[in-house]
Amino acid sequence: MTAKTIVVGNFKGGVGKTKVSVMTSWEYATVHNKKVLLIDMDPQGNASTLIARSVGIDKIEKTIFDGFQDGNLENVVMKINDNLDLIPAAVSFKNFSKFLYKNFETDLEQITLLKTLIEPLKENYDYIFIDVPPTISDYSDNAMMASDYVLIILQAQELSLEGAETYVSYLQFMHDEYEADIQVLGVLPVLLRAGGRVDQTTVIRATELFGEDNVFSNVVKHLERLKAWDITGIRNDDHHDRKAHQTFLAVVEEMEDKLARFEEEENNV
Ligand SMILES: Nc1ncnc2c1ncn2[C@@H]1O[C@H](COP(=O)(O)OP(=O)(O)O)[C@@H](O)[C@H]1O
Ligand SMILES: [Mg+2]
Repeated sequence: MTAKTIVVGNFKGGVGKTKVSVMTSWEYATVHNKKVLLIDMDPQGNASTLIARSVGIDKIEKTIFDGFQDGNLENVVMKINDNLDLIPAAVSFKNFSKFLYKNFETDLEQITLLKTLIEPLKENYDYIFIDVPPTISDYSDNAMMASDYVLIILQAQELSLEGAETYVSYLQFMHDEYEADIQVLGVLPVLLRAGGRVDQTTVIRATELFGEDNVFSNVVKHLERLKAWDITGIRNDDHHDRKAHQTFLAVVEEMEDKLARFEEEENNV
C-alpha cells in the first residue's frame, strides 16, 4: 500500500473545502473500507474539531505542530475509527512559519517538510487527504508539495472562478519554481448558498479552463444538515443525514473513477 495524497484546494475562505476534505475522508473510510489519514494543515483546526466531535473526543492532546517540532508525524496520529486516522491541528500551529524559517535555510526545505515527514506514513494508508487554509502560505505550499493530486473546489453560484483560478496559476508557479508534481484530480462544484443552483456560465468557463473531463458531474448542493453537523458532529440518524452522506458518496465514486483513469494513463507510458 502506498497512499495517494490529495489536497483540497481553493484560495478563498468559506467555499466548503473543509467540509469536502472531512466528508470524502469519512466516506472512504467508513463506507468504502479504505485506510485514510486526514491531515489538518489549518491552524483554525476546523476539520479536527468536526472529526473529534463526530466520535465524541473532547480533548486533543498532541497536534501536528508537535510533530513538526519533533521531526516525526507518526506520534501525533490520532485513531478515529478502524479505518480513519487524523493528524489534528490547533491554534499553536500559527507559529509554523517562524519555526520553518528558524530551522531550515532554503525555501525548498521549508516547503517540503510535510512531504518529507509523511513519507514513512504512506505505507499505512490508501489515501491521505490534506485540509488547508485559504491563503497562499507555508501551509498551502507544504500541502501542495506533499500531494499527488488536488481536488479544486469551484464556487458554483458565484459568477467568478476566483479562488479556483488563483489556485491553478499558483500550481503553475510552484511547478516552474520548485518542480511541484501535482495533478488536478478534478474540479468539484459546491453550492454554499441556500436556494441556489449551479451557474452554468461558471461551469462552462471552468470546463474551458480545466478541460471537459476534469469538472465533476456531481455537485455538492447546499444542505442545511451539513451546517448542522458543525454543532452535532457527523450523524447518520435520519433521512437528512443519509441524504448528506449520499452527496459525498457520489463524489467519492466519481473520484475513484478519475483516479483509476489517471492510473491507467500512467501505466500506459
Ligand atoms: N454544501 C454545504 N451546504 C451548506 N453549508 C455548507 C456546505 N458546505 C459547507 N457548508 C458550511 O459553510 C461553512 C464554510 O464551510 P467550510 O467547509 O468550513 O469552508 P472552507 O474550509 O472553504 O472555509 C461551514 O459553516 C460549513 O458547515
Ligand atoms: Mg477550512
